[in-house]
Formats: sequence, C-alpha cells, structure tokens
Amino acid sequence: MISSSAEILQAALKLEAGELVVFPTETVYGLGADAENALAVAKIYALKGRPADHPVIVHVSPNVNIAHWANPVPPAAYALMEAFWPGPLTLIMQRRATIPSIVSGGQRTIGLRCPSHPMAQTLLKAFKGGRGGVAAPSANKFGRVSPTTAQHVRDEFGADPAISMILDGGQSDVGIESTILDITRISAYGSVLLRPGSISAEQIAEVLGCMPRNPDKNAPRASGTLESHYAPRTPVALVASNQLAVALARCRIARKRVALLSVVARIDDVMLSNVVAHHRVLNDPRAYAHVVYAALRKLDRVAADVIVIESPPQGDEWHGVHDRLRRAAHGFKTRLDYLW
Ligand code: TXA
Ligand code: MG
Repeated sequence: MISSSAEILQAALKLEAGELVVFPTETVYGLGADAENALAVAKIYALKGRPADHPVIVHVSPNVNIAHWANPVPPAAYALMEAFWPGPLTLIMQRRATIPSIVSGGQRTIGLRCPSHPMAQTLLKAFKGGRGGVAAPSANKFGRVSPTTAQHVRDEFGADPAISMILDGGQSDVGIESTILDITRISAYGSVLLRPGSISAEQIAEVLGCMPRNPDKNAPRASGTLESHYAPRTPVALVASNQLAVALARCRIARKRVALLSVVARIDDVMLSNVVAHHRVLNDPRAYAHVVYAALRKLDRVAADVIVIESPPQGDEWHGVHDRLRRAAHGFKTRLDYLW
C-alpha cells in the first residue's frame, strides 16, 4: 500500500531521531539515515554488511545549498544540476570538512543526488526543514540485487528491527541506480563516469561540451563499480543472442535447470524443454532497466541451476543495463565452464 503523507512526515521525524528509514526513489529504494549523524550512518553499514570504506550517496532536497556539502563547488556542478536534477545523476565533489567522513567511507569526496520520486522529495523537504541530507545506499545486502519495490526490501531484510520504517512508493520508474559522475578534477582533467545509468555519457557531454572519461587509478572508489555486484545467488551466464540456442542445448545435455531472461532471440519449444522459468523483456533500454532487477529476483527464486541471460543489443542507451548484467554474471564464469 502506498504510504500516506502522515507516514512520510513520521519517517522524516525518525530520520531526525537517528533511525533508519527505507524510502523509494525513481532509480531503486534507498536505506536512509541522517548524513550528518555519524552514528546513524554507521547503522547502515552494519545492516548492509557493507565494508566501511565504501562511500554512501547523500540525497538532498531540490532547494539545497550545495556549498553546505561540497567545497569547492565547480561551476559545472550548477550546469549539471540545472540539466538533470531532480533525477538519476549523482555528482562526486570534494567533501566540505564539516561533513562526517563516514558518509564517504573515509574519502575526501562526497556523492550528492536529488531524487525526482515525489515521495523522496516530500521526505527530503520535511527532513530538517529541507536543509538536511539523507545518506542512502540501495536497500539491499552488500553486493546483491537492488530493490525496486517495497516488497523487495521486506524480502531482503524481513522484519529487521534496525529498520524503523519502510515507505512504499510503488515500483521505481527507472529501475537501475543513478549515473555517477566524478567532477572533483573537472577543470584540470575532465569529468569521469564512475557508474553508467539512465542519464547517458552523451547527455552529459551535451551539457559539459565534452565526453566524460573512463575511470583511471586516481578516480574515487565506488562499490557499484566492483566487478561482482548486483548479483543473484543463482549462478548467472550472460550469453550473446546468437549463442543462446547452443548455450541452452548444452544446459539441456548437462540436465541443468535453467531460468531464462531473453530479449530478442526467437525461442522455440525445444529450447524451452529444461527451462523452468522464462521472462522475456521488451527490446527497449528504458523498459528493460525498469524491470531487470524484479526479473532477476523472480528468476533467482525458482531454484534453477543457472540463470541464462540473453545479452541485450549494444548502444549508448543500453550502457547502464549492460554494466549491471555484466556485474551480476561476474565470478560465476568459472563455475559454469563445465557447461559450455
Ligand atoms: O540510484 C542510486 O544511486 C541509489 C538510490 C538509492 O539513490 N543509490 C545507490 O547507492 O545506488 P549505493 O550505495 O548502492 O551505490 C552508491 C555508489 C557506490 O558505488 C559508491 O561507492 C558511490 O556511489 N559513491 C557514493 N559516494 C561516493 C564518493 N564520495 N566517492 C565515490 N563514490 C561514491
Ligand atoms: Mg547498491
């Protein structure tokens, strides 16, 4: 059931009291705490099982004074905020010294984002009168698939008493996490795309006048960029469209139970003979991102030996989806070698 305005206000009070609240955003659900309360932020790390050196994004209201959080604020930040906020873009800047370092995992940077989901906006406007920041990673256990519904969060954490409230804002619209852009070195080096998302490199280039770079060794660390992340428990095999029939045949010969996520390939009955669950996603990057995590969660529950994912088409607008699928499949390759 969608949460009421009274519940949103109650959630803001709980955040002010140093408690943890789950709230919806347009990308995925976040596990929130007062970003300026180090003890409250520490509860997030404990609950997620997240290493202490992995920074958390701070969510701010639309009328935020950005200089409260970041210093210096490069002029490009204002252009990017104007173009993409509220929305799924996280900006990494230098952290102002007064902000507790725990939100950035001890790094000297800070990640800021203003979500567009109406419930997140209402919450952020109510919390500390709109002047606060809510530190929130995705509301899942570390390394696992992000939640796009309140039910996913309940499935993941059960009735954990560490979570004071779960706000329900329906299914997240975008479905994959925000684009993360590092602008700490923008004047000397340029911007760096740390995590692709639904706001593409091309869209950013239209505002900045040049393409963001790929991460180098000096880029801030980001856990969403770990090789293995966003992963179901069932082994995942990411297979090119033109290899799908062969991959399924090999699974059949090896008597492996398959959960299949397909997108464009023609699937016939023979291919489906040992497929215990099949989810076909629309051949459209936005529609795909919208459902991909819910689909992975569903396919993870059918007790298959392997989740076979047909790799979607290439192209800039598919970049975020490819990134998540590649990380979901990472680390399972060697365990699947015997199949191929
Ligand atoms: O869409 C999203 O970004 C969602 C919703 C809830 O806003 N949040 C999210 O948070 O995906 P999380 O913690 O699962 O991923 C945040 C990513 C991590 O890879 C983290 O390392 C990076 O952002 N990050 C946050 N602050 C950073 C900082 N100061 N420097 C470098 N990376 C940072
Ligand atoms: Mg996450």
